[in-house]
Amino acid sequence: MTVMKKTLLLCTVLLTFAFNSLYAQMLGTEKYDRFYPGKLWFDTDGQIINAHGGGLLLHEGTYYWFGEHKGEHSNAALVGVTCYASTDLYNWKNLGVAFSVSDEPGSPVERGCTLERPKVIYNKKTGKFVMFFHLELKGQGYNRANVGVAVADKPEGPYTFLKNGRVNPGKWPQNLDKTFKNKQFDKNHKGWSDEWRQDVAEGMMVQRDLEGGQMSRDMQLFVDDDGKAYHIYSSEDNLTIQIAELTDDYLDYTGKYIRIDPAGHNEAPALFKKDGKYFMITSGCTGWAPNAARLLTADNIMGPWTRHDNPCRGKGADKTFNSQSTYILPLPNGKFIFMADRWMPSNPIDGRYVWLPIEWESGMPVLRWHDQWRLEE
Ligand code: DGJ
Repeated sequence: MTVMKKTLLLCTVLLTFAFNSLYAQMLGTEKYDRFYPGKLWFDTDGQIINAHGGGLLLHEGTYYWFGEHKGEHSNAALVGVTCYASTDLYNWKNLGVAFSVSDEPGSPVERGCTLERPKVIYNKKTGKFVMFFHLELKGQGYNRANVGVAVADKPEGPYTFLKNGRVNPGKWPQNLDKTFKNKQFDKNHKGWSDEWRQDVAEGMMVQRDLEGGQMSRDMQLFVDDDGKAYHIYSSEDNLTIQIAELTDDYLDYTGKYIRIDPAGHNEAPALFKKDGKYFMITSGCTGWAPNAARLLTADNIMGPWTRHDNPCRGKGADKTFNSQSTYILPLPNGKFIFMADRWMPSNPIDGRYVWLPIEWESGMPVLRWHDQWRLEE
């Protein structure tokens, strides 16, 4: 074979290899061996993963990723909650729709409702998988601020819708100073003024919503080491986070709940526990636009909680690297993955996932951008 022919053959082999690899990447059929935060992420069928505002569950060695199915033109729930499975956290198999919206007119979960931030926990006592999500009734904007509850026998579902409503009607939070319970708040205080903020901090919204129950929007579920579970949610017009203890079957509230960072205006709570201490990363409230993350810590899940500075470091830290927290996954090796969404309101399906490793500095979690990273490093 002449040198010319050999070179041509080598070029053809290399080009074919490069083309195949590019094609495989485009299809998503190439096995991932690392995370690429913010990049398109394909499932094992080569389809873009559609599981936004999600959360993870580790059950019998498999990770299940639950999230909002989003379409191209609106944020309304037209499908429901999707479920993907993985054993390595890089490569995800689509298991389909775990919880489906309903075609029954007037159903609280009617197709076209707003269904956000689904989370699933497993109840060892009942053997049931319990899903909570933020639910807004069809055509009512974000006014209802309800929580929806669904249950299944298998992690991937199908989940049966049980109920929806506000949290703990008629119950006062444990950490509200009793002098404020019957306080007559001055309705003339202008929204966002210092006086108004003070009123909110003193429980004006809790009092307003006492009878019907507390609002619940962005949310997470957390199961503690003793098996007790908690619902963590943005309440009081997104001005105050609340944590409510769940009953043993995880389907209801015990009536015990607390307020965190009153009038602090937090959304997107993501709570995790390390060495007996509780950490929560949240965001501010700027709709779909990113803002600086916040960090809160506590020695006891039911408080008191202390707020700290933005845990993000480096370029993009002031906007949480163009994302908003949704969940923090504890790994069996003691490390944690921060999961966030890069929302795309003009084409919701194009929202991206930003997963970053939690790093530690002086006992506090910090987040840094990585173009790509591996769990093994
Ligand atoms: C930010 C929330 O975190 C999202 O889940 C969603 O509710 C948007 N706001 C709506 O503007």
